[in-house]
Amino acid sequence: MMNPHVCKAGLWGMRGVGKSTLVKELEWKTVKDCSFGIVVSVELSESPDVKTIQVKIAESLGMKKFDVETLCERIFKEESILIIMDNIWERLDLIEVGVPFGDDHKGCKLLFSSRNLNVLTQEMNVEEQFCFKLEVLSEKESWSLFEKQVGDAVKDNNIRPTALKVAKACCDLPLLLITVANALKNKRLSVWNDALQQLTRFNHKVAFWSLGLIEDIDSLAHARKRLDSLVTELKSACLLLEEEDENEFIKMHDIVHEVARRLASRDQPIFAVK
Ligand SMILES: Nc1ncnc2c1ncn2[C@@H]1O[C@H](COP(=O)(O)OP(=O)(O)OP(=O)(O)O)[C@@H](O)[C@H]1O
Ligand SMILES: [Mg+2]
Repeated sequence: MMNPHVCKAGLWGMRGVGKSTLVKELEWKTVKDCSFGIVVSVELSESPDVKTIQVKIAESLGMKKFDVETLCERIFKEESILIIMDNIWERLDLIEVGVPFGDDHKGCKLLFSSRNLNVLTQEMNVEEQFCFKLEVLSEKESWSLFEKQVGDAVKDNNIRPTALKVAKACCDLPLLLITVANALKNKRLSVWNDALQQLTRFNHKVAFWSLGLIEDIDSLAHARKRLDSLVTELKSACLLLEEEDENEFIKMHDIVHEVARRLASRDQPIFAVK
């Protein structure tokens, strides 16, 4: 972002990997270092509306009343400004919002985060070389986060071996590690073992599901039958949920979807669940 030739940069990665955490850290660091005259950060929702984004930017700039022109003029006045837009889902027209950038205002830098690289490159026109993927944690980092979150319980030699396995079953995803750690801290060994069993079964089933559909299928009828029985099995394990009012439709919880994608791409790179 300090490169004078870069006006837009992007951060992308799967749900719960830590994008918002990282951009908040970056915001804090740039404010502390005075790297920019002003830093404005906006968190977007799945269906953002331009007005809400404008209000958030205007408020951060201390404007009580504004329209597109005055907002744009105000941003022009800032010699060096960083605007962070966390969680971009779809194309957002910066001109419509009133954000001048590029040759119009070289001092205005934009940082976007998204779960999807294509949204950054195709919809927000960020050059791919300035899009950075946030990967899941390393095994060591995962354990250290899990251990910190659980606290003293993992020092107990009875719990520790199970805790190590539980942390491993969380697929190095911060969101899952934190959620599971918080649910298990201060719990008895039997609860830990139960959780481990559930997580392992959960991962096996998701992996089985992601691979099973493309193995040994010799006819369409066979595939259909197999799919039906897999769906029934996954529904009973709460890995797929029945859509309310619509019996023919099923849905998948976000976190199950992420783990499925991660396992599918790790074990079978040609298969991706969308
Ligand atoms: N490096 C990290 N160390 C410790 N905790 C982390 C780290 N990264 C993320 N977390 C924690 O993991 C959880 C999910 O992180 P975060 O909300 O930043 O994910 P995200 O990538 O923005 O997800 P989403 O795509 O849903 O917006 C949060 O509780 C956050 O505090
Ligand atoms: Mg986020």
